[in-house]
Amino acid sequence: MTDLYAVVGNPVAHSRSPAIHAEFARATGQDLRYEALLAPFDGLARTLADFRGRGGKGCNVTVPFKLEAFRLAAQLSARAQVAEAVNTLKFDGDAVFGDNTDGVGLIRDIRQNLGWPIEGKRVLLMGAGGAAQGVLAPLLDEHPATLVIANRTPRKAEELAGHMRRIERFRSRLINAGPYPELKGKQFDIVINATSGSLSGELPPLPRGVFAAESLAYDMMYGQALTPFLGFAQAEGAGRLADGIGMLVEQAAESFFLWRGVRPDTAPVITLLKMQQETVNHKQ
Ligand code: ATR
Repeated sequence: MTDLYAVVGNPVAHSRSPAIHAEFARATGQDLRYEALLAPFDGLARTLADFRGRGGKGCNVTVPFKLEAFRLAAQLSARAQVAEAVNTLKFDGDAVFGDNTDGVGLIRDIRQNLGWPIEGKRVLLMGAGGAAQGVLAPLLDEHPATLVIANRTPRKAEELAGHMRRIERFRSRLINAGPYPELKGKQFDIVINATSGSLSGELPPLPRGVFAAESLAYDMMYGQALTPFLGFAQAEGAGRLADGIGMLVEQAAESFFLWRGVRPDTAPVITLLKMQQETVNHKQ
């Protein structure tokens, strides 16, 4: 029988995960089906129970359910425990295993695909929700010179920074947190948008002047056109722009590996998705 997987979120219709996993399955000869599941905001547990009842073997979890998925998973990987957020669930009989592949996906995309070093760089992470939580420890493991977390609700950024400072291996690191206006007059080598603002076409209130000519602006979201954040970064003269397509494919490959024990080749899928993005842009 064909194994069943899904991405669960709200909204979820925009997700490219079904296309990515279909491509991975084709390329590796794995027999599986992967669908998009829209869960009501208060109905993640119910939606997952229905899915498991239909034979679901695992799922990816996206906005806004990554923190709730962490609470629902009975067993957790080490990286999900640190992140306190889950983007991948694996169902095995009654057991629910939670993992977080977002961080690995982001780091592989920045370092390997974009060829951009993180070590010794000044990094700004925007957002303090599930997406930000998932990538923070893997970013710190790359040894940036400083890491600043900015969030619309500053308390959440402070809490996240505090959580990281309490982890033994990050104790001596420069981790700061605060509201957006405090970034005025500061510059960063890498600015990562981990807010969900791009989903609704909103730009977080980033002050002007944070990008240098050699800065990388990275939006963990993706869309058919430049996201508002990447449009702002371009207007501000950031040297390199990247959306979250590469990260999406890399985190998907890691989830696929967890579920199937087979590691798909990511480069052709990233190329395919970028080509599809350009075709849509030309049609608009
Ligand atoms: P995700 O799983 O994508 O992180 P989330 O947990 O709902 O989703 O978190 C969304 C993040 O995007 C939060 O950091 C949120 O800021 P608040 O903590 O202040 O709510 C941030 N965010 C969403 N829309 C935003 C906007 N228009 N401007 C700035 N930040 C925004």
